[in-house]
Amino acid sequence: PLSTSSAKPKTLDVLGTAYATDAWTNTPPAILAKTGRDLLHQPSHPLAILKELIFKEFPTFAHYDSLSPVVSTYQNFDSLGFAQDHPGRSKTDTYYVNQTTLLRTHTSAHQLQLLAAGSQGDVGVLVQAKNSTAAPANERFLVAADVYRRDEIDASHYPVFHQMEGVCTFLRKEVRDRLHIGNNMTKEDAVARGVCHSDQVAQLVDATAVGDDNPMQPVHSAEEVAFVVNDMKQAMNNMVVQILTKAVAAQQHSGEPSVAGGQMLFPVRWIDAYFPFTSPSWEMEVFFQGEWLEICGCGVMKQEILDQAGMPDRIGWAFGFGLERLAMLLFGVHDIRLFWSSDSRFTEQFSPGSINSFKPFSRHPSCAKDVSFWLAADSAFHENDIMDLVRETAGDLVEGVKLIDSFTHPKTGKSSRCYRINYCSMDRNVTNEEINSVQELVRKRIVEQLGVTLR
Ligand code: DAH
Repeated sequence: PLSTSSAKPKTLDVLGTAYATDAWTNTPPAILAKTGRDLLHQPSHPLAILKELIFKEFPTFAHYDSLSPVVSTYQNFDSLGFAQDHPGRSKTDTYYVNQTTLLRTHTSAHQLQLLAAGSQGDVGVLVQAKNSTAAPANERFLVAADVYRRDEIDASHYPVFHQMEGVCTFLRKEVRDRLHIGNNMTKEDAVARGVCHSDQVAQLVDATAVGDDNPMQPVHSAEEVAFVVNDMKQAMNNMVVQILTKAVAAQQHSGEPSVAGGQMLFPVRWIDAYFPFTSPSWEMEVFFQGEWLEICGCGVMKQEILDQAGMPDRIGWAFGFGLERLAMLLFGVHDIRLFWSSDSRFTEQFSPGSINSFKPFSRHPSCAKDVSFWLAADSAFHENDIMDLVRETAGDLVEGVKLIDSFTHPKTGKSSRCYRINYCSMDRNVTNEEINSVQELVRKRIVEQLGVTLR
């Protein structure tokens, strides 16, 4: 619906390349502008600091952090086994450049491409690793990158965020040999590695088991799956423990309880999950300020991906970490918009290699404005359309958009919606007049672009 009223240009320029537009094109200018921000390459940015900390935990992996956000629909979805009708593919959830090209919605979009580059010795891709000798055939790699999703607006959701993908593969023959010798898989080992129960800062709990609800793939043996899963959980537990330890140490050092909200012990749990490209699958969650925060998804890679990449003789695990969630917790950043601020009062508070607590600058008052409208009877209205529209109009002045009322008129059958838009600058004072004129523009555009009637 966003595209119906304004004529669409023939091409869309993304990072210097012109792409033909079509009926799928739905990426607005404010989102395109983010593709060049490159937060992960600003050494003092909290997200870049976290990226480096994770890279350090995986010295034997190839490290990628400069892959273009423009990928094919095939890379982002098909190559990973997403069903044709998977909701993630819809225009309401994903920013398309055109039907066959989009802004990656996750770093998993690079799995097949990087594995295939390794098995084919594609030097053009392999040299893009920052440490190309660590895993010269991409048998293990990490990808840190910006990812894009149409989504709601609140303090922890932003249409652009960052992920870290991890992939680790093993020759199946080597796994079998090691299992046969038995030096890697004593029961104590397995417990110590995968199901570690306590640590100084993290309290790891894993009550999951591979079985009917979270099945292994028929092509794998139970033993090799156990080996791969233990290796994965050990690697991820270690990473999280290292990072939390660093945060708590920083807190003790500074004598200020504000890092990580003063919390000293972090419950971390593993729960069963589902992804199209792994089986079995898990999510890892951290308990923080009364809530379980999902910080990553992971699992045993679908064998089809490795087969497709020309590596049928390998088995592997993969994870995808959300960097913002963890960075907000570690650096005490309570509003996700701050990561995009170029205000020096934000950017100058951090330095490479260290975790320290963000000291908020004065909190500016927020101001709520409601907008109510009738939908047309046959309306294809989707909530993410209004999210994009408000974001495009108000930029980072908008702190949240929330549906506060919705009903259908019993006689006319028409539906009404009321959204509350919260305006609040994260870094400057804003006048009432400014907010009023932004709200006026929002109301005007809602009518023009969404084809609704204001109430
Ligand atoms: N790509 C998933 C997401 O964005 C996260 C993920 C889950 C990545 C499981 C993985 C994985 O590599 O194995 O939600």
